[in-house]
Amino acid sequence: MGEMLKTTWEEDSVFRTRKAGKEKAGRKKAAGNGAGDTEKRMPAKENPSEKNQAFVARLAKHHDELRWLYMELYGNGDMFAELCHNMERFYRERNNVLKDTDLYRESRPDWYKSNDMLGMMFYIDNFAGTMQAVEDRLDYIEQCNVNYIHLMPFLDTPAGRSDGGYAVSDFRKVQERLGSMEDLESLTAACHKKGINVCMDFVMNHTSEDHEWARKARQGDGEYMSRYFFYEDDSIPARYEQTVPQVFPTTAPGNFTWLPDCGHYVMTTFYPYQWDLNYRNPRVFNEMMYNFLFLANKGIDIMRIDAVPYIWKELHTSCRNLPQVHTIVRMMRMIAEIVCPGILLLGEVVMEPEKVLPYFGTVEKPECHMLYNVTTMATTWHTVATRDVRLLKRQLDIVNALPKDYVFLNYLRCHDDIGWGLDYNTLRGEGIRERSHKQYLNDYFQGYAGGSNSRGELYNADPVTGDARFCGTTASMCGIEKAGFEQDGEAMEKAIRLDVMLHAYMFLQSGIPVLYSGDEIGQVNDYSYKDNPDKAADSRYIHRGAMNWELAENIRRPDTVEGKLFGRLKELEEIRKREKVFVSGADTWTIETGEQSVLCMGRYYEGEKIIGLFNFSEYEKTAWIHEADGRYVDLLTGADVRPEEVRIPAYGFYLMKKK
Ligand code: GLC
Repeated sequence: MGEMLKTTWEEDSVFRTRKAGKEKAGRKKAAGNGAGDTEKRMPAKENPSEKNQAFVARLAKHHDELRWLYMELYGNGDMFAELCHNMERFYRERNNVLKDTDLYRESRPDWYKSNDMLGMMFYIDNFAGTMQAVEDRLDYIEQCNVNYIHLMPFLDTPAGRSDGGYAVSDFRKVQERLGSMEDLESLTAACHKKGINVCMDFVMNHTSEDHEWARKARQGDGEYMSRYFFYEDDSIPARYEQTVPQVFPTTAPGNFTWLPDCGHYVMTTFYPYQWDLNYRNPRVFNEMMYNFLFLANKGIDIMRIDAVPYIWKELHTSCRNLPQVHTIVRMMRMIAEIVCPGILLLGEVVMEPEKVLPYFGTVEKPECHMLYNVTTMATTWHTVATRDVRLLKRQLDIVNALPKDYVFLNYLRCHDDIGWGLDYNTLRGEGIRERSHKQYLNDYFQGYAGGSNSRGELYNADPVTGDARFCGTTASMCGIEKAGFEQDGEAMEKAIRLDVMLHAYMFLQSGIPVLYSGDEIGQVNDYSYKDNPDKAADSRYIHRGAMNWELAENIRRPDTVEGKLFGRLKELEEIRKREKVFVSGADTWTIETGEQSVLCMGRYYEGEKIIGLFNFSEYEKTAWIHEADGRYVDLLTGADVRPEEVRIPAYGFYLMKKK
């Protein structure tokens, strides 16, 4: 391997030298090698010294595969050599504390699969105001037992055209109102001291139209136009439109935007101000990898690869999940393992399971470390609305049968809508049709049907297809908003019970649970976005309200909604942390209960066993299970219990541990 590395390394250097020569001679290529990119002006490669031994060893491990994939995609040795040299540069620039963490995590590759991992996602401005202020709130985060925070998009983005920060105009600059790169480094360092991991979004499918590349492209600079998808007329865009679905059919219809000032169409899968990057151009790939490594070096532990299925475009296809996407993610994984192996890749693939799973890659060639358990999340809310656990049981059976290396991120709510991506094939067998069922779910969660106490709003209701998605906070969807508004104490108790039960059930799943900030105190929908013209059209802002710190004060008062919820969740978090049966690698299975509204799940790990029972109905139910293979204790009360014909109160649950 050492020999092989030497040859290819030197070979790459030759490519690099040749390229430098070309540039000196002033020969500019039409596409690809942008002149304005600093990373291209690399120092000459030093001989691998003691200092970068780790880098050399990691490169040796991955070089051949990385080079193979790169050449397969781009066939450009110059650019590959440039990538390798910049990887080394970013490695050299990485600080020693992070390098030590890398070594530690390399020696314990399962470090993130432990039972104490608990995430929380929040917007910096909503949560605390600024990055510095987040640092001041780390005590609260610790109080929530959270050791992984997802800082929602914070890079520079134009006001009013930001898609919640997902339209990045500068990957190396923090939005001024939130802080600076120094603040980010300070925050990550402070988090690391407390054992908290930091996650950020890497929005790689597109840039903002205000990004330097986009601005140059708009001025007609061919070099930069080739980093996006530009078309003089609508003939090719029209052909794409025949096969490419729409992400925002109502708020941003179509996949292209006409730019009258430069007389071109540009591809914009998401909002018109989010221009899709062209990953056929190796300059785009390289530069985005440099941005990725730059951010990694600021102390990021988890990179959420935003909208990853979309990054490769091909005519006559849906432009989703194409094979080249997997080549790119696999390359990213290797690049991270070479430069910053302490980092985890979290893929955002909000699709059906058969499309999600390939993003884990294979055991030999892994891609993402973690993926969102999106179908389980949507099926959970379906179960709330139908009080019928059959589809959820089936979904969990699928997840439970997957290799234990796969780590899912489990959640009830996040910053996005719920798209109702359910297993409609199975539902069809029960006589349930997709369109009418989505209609029922949307009616239910708006509070119109099925004895619902939920509150929330539709999202991207498409009058043509009849499709619509849903927005609302966990608390509002559980009935806390309605009960509070109506000052109905009994209804409030019921809503809190449902909310806590859902968290308990989420915590019992394998993987990493992530709370949506505010859920720990039952924060309800925030309708004020309607008064803000920049947000009014996007109902996702209903569940993106500012943290109410006044209400959060109540966590110390057990007679308040916040106090009850916080206290009960804390109890569950502590159980999860304490009991090793919650590690990601435990055996998990579901158990038939003979009662349509009650879900039963088991976990087993190194001699420890736990049985969870969850009643999704507003009535008391009996679970007809016969699991009494020994003595069991109720983890919440400490009382002896028998997992046999268990009566479970309305929206109640049990966590029974075998003694
Ligand atoms: C992801 C984000 C979503 C955003 C989209 C475009 O899906 O979660 O909020 O609108 O990417 O970047």
